[in-house]
Amino acid sequence: MHKVIFDTDPGIDDAMALLFLHQHPDVDLIGITTVFGNASVETTTRNALFLKREWNIAAPVAKGDGKAFNPMRNPTDWPVMIHGHDGLGNIDVPEKIDLPLDPRPAHRFIIDTVRANPGEVTLVAVGRMSNLAFALKEAPEIAGLVKQVIIMGGAFDVPGNITPAAEANIHGDPEAADVVMTAPWKVVVVGLDVTMQTVMTRTLLDEIVEAGGARAKLLSDISQLYIDFYGRHVEDAMVVHDSCACAYLVAPELFTTRSGAIRVVAGGIADGQTIQKPDGRAFPPGNWDDLPSQHACTGINADAVLKLIAETL
Ligand code: BDR
Ligand code: CA
Repeated sequence: MHKVIFDTDPGIDDAMALLFLHQHPDVDLIGITTVFGNASVETTTRNALFLKREWNIAAPVAKGDGKAFNPMRNPTDWPVMIHGHDGLGNIDVPEKIDLPLDPRPAHRFIIDTVRANPGEVTLVAVGRMSNLAFALKEAPEIAGLVKQVIIMGGAFDVPGNITPAAEANIHGDPEAADVVMTAPWKVVVVGLDVTMQTVMTRTLLDEIVEAGGARAKLLSDISQLYIDFYGRHVEDAMVVHDSCACAYLVAPELFTTRSGAIRVVAGGIADGQTIQKPDGRAFPPGNWDDLPSQHACTGINADAVLKLIAETL
């Protein structure tokens, strides 16, 4: 059984990933932590509570503090074209959800939960890496207590999606992402190299709704705006980025990875770019020395991942 804290910015594909974690028999979802990204942290937290209520999810929700790791960055722009004004496809999510939040800020929830479950917790992070970086800053020793960190973010051998160099989750807080990638814990990066291949058609979504009842119907309702947006890239379909990170958790054999140290560019025209130094390549001494070897996904069996997602939902 995988004990998971899901760090998320719901977000339409985040919602699908959350339902996947909730439903998968090998996953014990022990916490949901929220971060800004697809909307403000107030909105993503309200959405997490809304999904918790609608899908009857037991895991507590802890709210991020809404700040980037570098205080000079001030997140204020949200991708309303993709995720809607409410972050969930403009379905008019109620303004207030009458459920309690965990009293701790997200990074503190992560620290406490990891300390209480040494060696057991997987962090699945599908938004900005801010909460993870703040947790590491306050309690660096948690790096040795976490089982693994699975990230949806980054682009190595393909273009970014917010600039030619950068993927949105990393671009939104590059300093945080660099802290997370270079910490002495196991990181698996499920980036655009593989997620852009994982395209769910409207037909498959309709089949999921037919078999999955009311829970899946909500998923379909919130996804319509997202499908319209992704129509620029793929016809009548959507890219299910965040669910790919969850699929890696339960079925890593469906992915191929490349190992090597990973760093994140902060500033300039390549702000937020992820770069990997493949293991075995020698370079003159520099910023890459003595960094942990991490794992970047370079290949995916997309058909099998889509089947896994559909069956789980
Ligand atoms: C990532 O950015 C967000 O829009 C999605 O939820 C996903 O986590 C894709 O770049
Ligand atoms: Ca996300």
